[in-house]
Amino acid sequence: MIVTVTMNPAIDKTIEIDEMICGGLNRIKAFESDAAGKGINVSKTIKALGGKSIAIGFIGGDAGNTIKNALDAEGIENDFVYVDGITRTNTKVFENSGRVTELNEPGPNIKDEDIEKLFEIIEKYASKDTLFILAGSVPAGVEKTIYRDITEKVHSLGAKVFVDADGEIFVRALEAKPDYIKPNDVELAQYCNISGDITEDQIIEMAEKLVSEGIGHVAVSMGKEGAIFVSEDEKFMCKGLKVEAHSTVGAGDAMVAAISYGVSEKISFRDCARLGIATSAGAVMTKGTKPPTKETVNSLIGKVEFK
Ligand SMILES: Nc1ncnc2c1ncn2[C@@H]1O[C@H](COP(=O)(O)OP(=O)(O)OP(=O)(O)O)[C@@H](O)[C@H]1O
Ligand SMILES: [Mg+2]
Repeated sequence: MIVTVTMNPAIDKTIEIDEMICGGLNRIKAFESDAAGKGINVSKTIKALGGKSIAIGFIGGDAGNTIKNALDAEGIENDFVYVDGITRTNTKVFENSGRVTELNEPGPNIKDEDIEKLFEIIEKYASKDTLFILAGSVPAGVEKTIYRDITEKVHSLGAKVFVDADGEIFVRALEAKPDYIKPNDVELAQYCNISGDITEDQIIEMAEKLVSEGIGHVAVSMGKEGAIFVSEDEKFMCKGLKVEAHSTVGAGDAMVAAISYGVSEKISFRDCARLGIATSAGAVMTKGTKPPTKETVNSLIGKVEFK
């Protein structure tokens, strides 16, 4: 069973207008809303690949209900903690010129009792067959140690953890030795205090060090260059697939989803990597933040090469 945890979900709203008139009336030509947040995006991609997951986290207000309804409509099981306050709506305004203006709401303040309720839900699902995915930022009121604390709790119940986060949340999560991590090259460089571009040799060296310290599997994504995968027994690199890029937003989430789905299907780490490269390339080919279709992923999977 896969459980995705989204502490800070959002409705992603995209609006198209001709040209922004600041201080005046702007007529919207087209708009779209999607339930989002890293864990929720991962759940959607797992579904597209033919898998199942349960989406949990915090939601509040009408926007929170919209997220729950959207997941219900897509057939994605969910079990959220309802909190006071209103789930964020993040609005992106696209103009004809290509200029994009973003308006992000602050989201709710999480209370200690909300966190306790989340832990109750987590404990309910944690068993030796569960993989928890802890992805993305955390809202106000939540300590940066939360991914470490969740990892420790679910490890004590036999479950496994996949962490995709950056900055202090990532650093603190590593203290609990998650089973899978997927930083991108920039996040890893930041973690290692490397300024400028991190080289492939430095990535391999750092990934090996993390594995030697007890992190089960490290995948370091490098955008169109592909990704490097290291575990105790294996080390390999896959070149990124040459595809027509429409939207690179969410490519990392697609890779996390594919590896997690592969783990739940008990395929090898190598086959998880293959699926991760194909699914993330498929996400890049797909317009907006929608997951790639299974057909797209299947058409790419034979093209993945190992080095
Ligand atoms: N332009 C591209 N062409 C082909 N594949 C790509 C491209 N960009 C990204 N990918 C694929 O997606 C994977 C993840 O991309 P990236 O390293 O940009 O993740 P990320 O920075 O974590 O993204 P996110 O915005 O989702 O957090 C890469 O390892 C690669 O397989
Ligand atoms: Mg990422």
